[in-house]
Parts: sequence; C-alpha cells; structure tokens
Amino acid sequence: MRILVTGGTGYIGSHTCVQLLERGDDVIIIDNLCNSEASVVDSLEKITGRRPVFYEADIRDREALDRIFSAYDPEVVIHFAGLKAVGESVSKPLEYYENNISGTLTLLEVMRAHDCRKMVFSSSATVYGTPASVPIREEFPTGGTTNPYGTTKLFLERILTDLTVSDPRWSVALLRYFNPIGAHQSGLIGDDPTGIPNNLMPYVTRVAKGTLPVLSVYGNDYPTHDGTGVRDYIHVEDLAAGHVAVLPCMKTPGVHIYNLGTGVGYSVLDIINAFERSTGVKIAYRITERRPGDIAECWSDPSRAAKELGWKAERTLEDMCRSAWNFEKSKA
Ligand code: NAD
Ligand code: UD1
Repeated sequence: MRILVTGGTGYIGSHTCVQLLERGDDVIIIDNLCNSEASVVDSLEKITGRRPVFYEADIRDREALDRIFSAYDPEVVIHFAGLKAVGESVSKPLEYYENNISGTLTLLEVMRAHDCRKMVFSSSATVYGTPASVPIREEFPTGGTTNPYGTTKLFLERILTDLTVSDPRWSVALLRYFNPIGAHQSGLIGDDPTGIPNNLMPYVTRVAKGTLPVLSVYGNDYPTHDGTGVRDYIHVEDLAAGHVAVLPCMKTPGVHIYNLGTGVGYSVLDIINAFERSTGVKIAYRITERRPGDIAECWSDPSRAAKELGWKAERTLEDMCRSAWNFEKSKA
C-alpha cells in the first residue's frame, strides 16, 4: 500500500515505519522535526534495507501537503504528528490546539481534496479521564481530560467521528495507546526526549546511565498493591504492530476504536525491579509527592483488538526494559 505517515521520524511513528517497510509498503513520511531527527530516516534504511520517502514539512502547510498528495496519491494516512508533553500543554494551550487540532484539520481537508478518506489516528488512554474502574474498555465514557494535550486527543476523536457521520466514505481508526516504552531490538531507534524526560522509562534509563542522579517516585500512598501508580506498559514494537493490524479494517467505512495495551498493570516499583532484574543495573530512587493530575491506576482491556484484529501484545516487561536500556547505551 502507499501509506503517508505524519510524525514518522518520531518515537512510535519510526517503529511503525519499520514494520510497514519490512512488509513492502511504500512509505512517505512527513515530519517537521520539532521533536525528532532527520537521521532517523537513515536508521530506518539500516534496519529494513529500504529507504522511505521523507519530507521535512509541517502538517499545517497546506501547499506542501497538496504537493505531496499530488505526487504520491497515498491510500491511507497514519497520523502520528502532534505535540505530546502534558506539562508544556498546560503552559502553552494555544500552541497545542493550533498544532494538533488546526494541523489535523488542514491534513483532513487536503486528504478530502485528494480523495483519500482513510486515517489511522494516534489517540491515547488519556481520553478516558479518570476511569470509574479498570480494566478500561472502549465503551467507557470519554471526557474529563485534565490538560490541553489530552483535550486535543478528545476533540480530534470527536471531529473524526463527526466526519465519518457526514460522509460515509470516510474510514477512521482511533487507536488509544496506553504507555508505550522500550525500543527497537536494533538499538537504532527509540524514545529520546530532549531535556529532562517527563515519562517514567526514559527517566529510569538516564538514571541507569548516570546522566540523571536519582528517580523521583511520585507518591507511594495510592490505593495500589505497593502504593505507587499502576500503568499498562506496552512494548513500542507491539504498539507499532497494532497499526499494521488495523489496516485491513480501513476498507470498512466508519469509526474503528481500539485500546492498544497489554491488559496488565505494573507499578512504578515493579518497573524499577524489572529494570534492575533484566539489566543488572541499580536504579537510585526516592519517594516524593504525588504528581498533580496523576491517577492511581490505568490499564486496558485489549480484548476487542484481539478478537477483531487478531492483535495481541507479545513482548514481556523484561523485553521492554532490556530494549530501552540497549537504546540508551547505544546513544552517543
Ligand atoms: P514524538 O514526539 O516522538 O513523535 C511525533 C512526531 O511528530 C515528531 O517527530 C514531531 O517532530 C512531529 N510533529 C509534531 N508536530 C508536527 C507538525 N505540525 N507537522 C509535522 N510534524 C510534526 O511522539 P510519539 O511518542 O511518537 O507520539 C506519536 C503520537 O502518539 C502523538 O500524536 C502522541 O500524542 C500520541 N501518543 C503518544 C503516547 C506516548 O506515550 N508516546 C501515548 C499516547 C498517544
Ligand atoms: C503520561 C501522560 C498521559 C500520556 C501518557 C503516555 C501525564 C500526567 N500523563 O501518562 O497524558 O497519555 O504519559 O505518554 O503526564 N512516574 C514517576 N516518576 C517519574 C515519571 C513518572 O514516579 O519521573 C510515575 C507516574 O506517577 C505514573 C507512572 O510513573 O504513575 C507513569 O508515568 P508516565 O510515564 O509519565 O505516564 P502517565 O502518567 O501514565
């Protein structure tokens, strides 16, 4: 297939491009490189032996999109491009709404003009707000997001749903990711946030490497098995495979909603222990205050994706820790 991947040099996009290239798809990447490096394209070629087409372009740039659609006529768009830092979104709401929402609207308008009406969209478990119970199923109510980043995902899910109602030719997949961690087995691509990481695993690997001195564990008084926050960590290669698995669905018009998670919750202390066990490296940590906006526990019921897509996360927590550490060590 001819697949346009926005945000394809980013963390999840690059792992998905590997699998698309490996199965023979024609991959066209658009990324403005605001949170990734052009060298990822070289890594994709090293891993797969095939080089994707790459444009350094912004999804808000209508003329650029128009030229790219005219040249390549993609059948499907997998849309990863977006800003994703929760804390930053609180201080820069306009930038987040503009980039994520206006950018997606421009992309959708260009798609429509070129008769491309199939989009796989990167959504997030954050659309469930504070869930009434776990595991979280797709039918659970969405809403109650606590930051502009989460609200962009919620609004975009709504916009995409409205679009499928207005015109039955559209087919949209809303993939709600839980917590992707880990890296490609080659060690050539992975999660490499600039500055001090907000998310747990990149923080852990930097403490392991000695780039950061100590991990703060945000609270040990949650109603969980050891008091620390519980999440559904999924290997990024399993998450990437979820995008490939949903592609056949795109033949059927309408909205296709899937949780992409493992269905298992691990606490922060579980992660530290698993990391130490699987890599042999000790993690210095201290317990601190809860982080504002955090919930106690969040994990998925992934059975719809298993039943309808035949997709299931396969890699273990040890695989996630080892590959994240392998990537951190191989970085310059
Ligand atoms: P990432 O930042 O590594 O990748 C996003 C890419 O989009 C980056 O390469 C960035 O340069 C690019 N980009 C941003 N704005 C752009 C624009 N206007 N035009 C062109 N390119 C632009 O993030 P990721 O972790 O790979 O996340 C991919 C998608 O998945 C995002 O939409 C994110 O919100 C969503 N998501 C991520 C997580 C997670 O934990 N990583 C969880 C749920 C959902
Ligand atoms: C965060 C985002 C969420 C996004 C998700 C996936 C927040 C509030 N939420 O979720 O919107 O969809 O990432 O990208 O940022 N932790 C520590 N110490 C740290 C970092 C994290 O103890 O230095 C704990 C957290 O309290 C949490 C767990 O580790 O219990 C996971 O945190 P994180 O990786 O930031 O992911 P989420 O909070 O689940």
